[in-house]
Amino acid sequence: MLHSFKLKHLAVLLLLGLFTESCRRDSLDPVEIDAARARTRNTLTPLQQLGKQIFFDARLSEPVGVQSCASCHAPQVGFSGFGDIPTGGAAAASGFKRGWITGIGEGANISAFANRRPQSAAYATLSPVFQLVTVVPDAEGIAEGLVPTQEFVGGNFWDGRATGQRLGSASAEQALGPFLSTKEQNHHSPAAVLAKLRNNRAYIALWQAAFGTPDISNLTPAQTSLNYDRVGTAIAAYEASSEVNQFSSKFDAVLAGRATLTPEEAEGLRLFNNEAECYDCHTSSGIRNAPIPPGEPFTNFRYFNIGVPVNTKNPGGNAVPDGGLGAFLATSDNPAWRDLATANWGAFKTPTIRNVGKMQRFMHNGSMQSLEEVMHFYNTRDVAGAGWNGVPWGAPEYPFTLDFHGVGAIGLTAAQEAAIVAFMRTLDDGYTGVTQ
Ligand code: HEC
Ligand code: HEC
Repeated sequence: MLHSFKLKHLAVLLLLGLFTESCRRDSLDPVEIDAARARTRNTLTPLQQLGKQIFFDARLSEPVGVQSCASCHAPQVGFSGFGDIPTGGAAAASGFKRGWITGIGEGANISAFANRRPQSAAYATLSPVFQLVTVVPDAEGIAEGLVPTQEFVGGNFWDGRATGQRLGSASAEQALGPFLSTKEQNHHSPAAVLAKLRNNRAYIALWQAAFGTPDISNLTPAQTSLNYDRVGTAIAAYEASSEVNQFSSKFDAVLAGRATLTPEEAEGLRLFNNEAECYDCHTSSGIRNAPIPPGEPFTNFRYFNIGVPVNTKNPGGNAVPDGGLGAFLATSDNPAWRDLATANWGAFKTPTIRNVGKMQRFMHNGSMQSLEEVMHFYNTRDVAGAGWNGVPWGAPEYPFTLDFHGVGAIGLTAAQEAAIVAFMRTLDDGYTGVTQ
């Protein structure tokens, strides 16, 4: 939506109750794929074990053996993707089967690229079913003449198109897509995915434990549809587990009374929650200086155009602006959603900032390379002549829906920018009690 007004006066009604459902806070060591596999039997339910096996299984690509969900959502980079890795088969030399260009991953088909960067698959299950909500101004906002607005919230993907309306879970619906995309795992049909599972004894046993039947049939459309949806449900169950949604960062330890922020980190949190106005979109309450509760997802799961420039090196989109939420709404068969497409052109779902210290690229198109760059962008997007590494900020992809709140010309000093970055780094999972 267009936000030329001050968002801080808008109380978000609906959200709080929605986040509680899968907010588990078990602390775990950093997830390394093999170590996590070894622990599986002790910590995961049968449904989650099945989902985990599928998530890490590179046989579930065409050609077989080159790509799993984890190839593009790797635990060591916060369940997101990588930066630059040689492509076109040359990746093998670096231990990868497929490559990356400026944060955009190559599909199982060599040289097939989508135009977006993978978000973290961690904490995605906390996103509610995609819906239109009414956001009501608080008393101060009403006094300033603000009126209630209609906003979209929830869903998975940068544009929310995995709505979750059919299965009641955005992540379960999301998980059905990559196996079939020619730019990802590249199967020609759901039945082809199920055929691989039913030909594997380990999957039949896991299926029996998860669903009470060994039957992974794909012979009729009804069987295929039922069982393919079960694949999505199992993956989402794993993604909601304490191996993925770990809540094991230093900040979580601080909330539990087991660690203390350094003075710089504490100052970063204060700025984040006050004058830098990050709280407005990257907390679930959206309330200035509100205490951050355990289980905080660090996003409001709403959609904004913060003016990210085109990634000119994007191998998929090649400098074509991305309509984001607006482009999805424009294709909807819901007329109320279609009516709101223009106002949401170029808006993307606010990502969690948990684990951003582990990530190699940032933003929906991978155009930013470091947290320091992201922070400087927020602080100086609208400051004449400002930029990064001597290059001025590129023009926003869609200027007419641009958000001016908390973004553009905050007026922070370099030390304050560094403090906010230091705070964000306390949100990386796998805190061991040893401060680096
Ligand atoms: C070739 C790389 C690639 C593969 C393989 C892949 N993904 Fe993704 N994933 C992406 C990209 C890119 C996006 C963002 C796409 C968009 O917004 O249009 C994404 C988005 C997601 C999201 C949305 C997160 C959110 O906050 O909305 C989840 C969850 C996810 N992927 C899980 C999976 C699962 C599960 C699999 C395996 C079935 C998988 N991905 C396979 C690249 C990949
Ligand atoms: C108006 C809402 C809004 C405000 C205010 C805001 N953000 Fe964001 N943030 C977003 C959205 C939306 C994106 C994704 C934009 C895109 O990719 O086009 C994002 C992306 C990010 C990312 C990149 C994460 C990733 O996975 O790529 C970081 C880090 C971040 N914000 C930190 C901050 C900090 C720090 C502040 C305060 C200085 C802040 N944000 C203020 C909405 C907001």
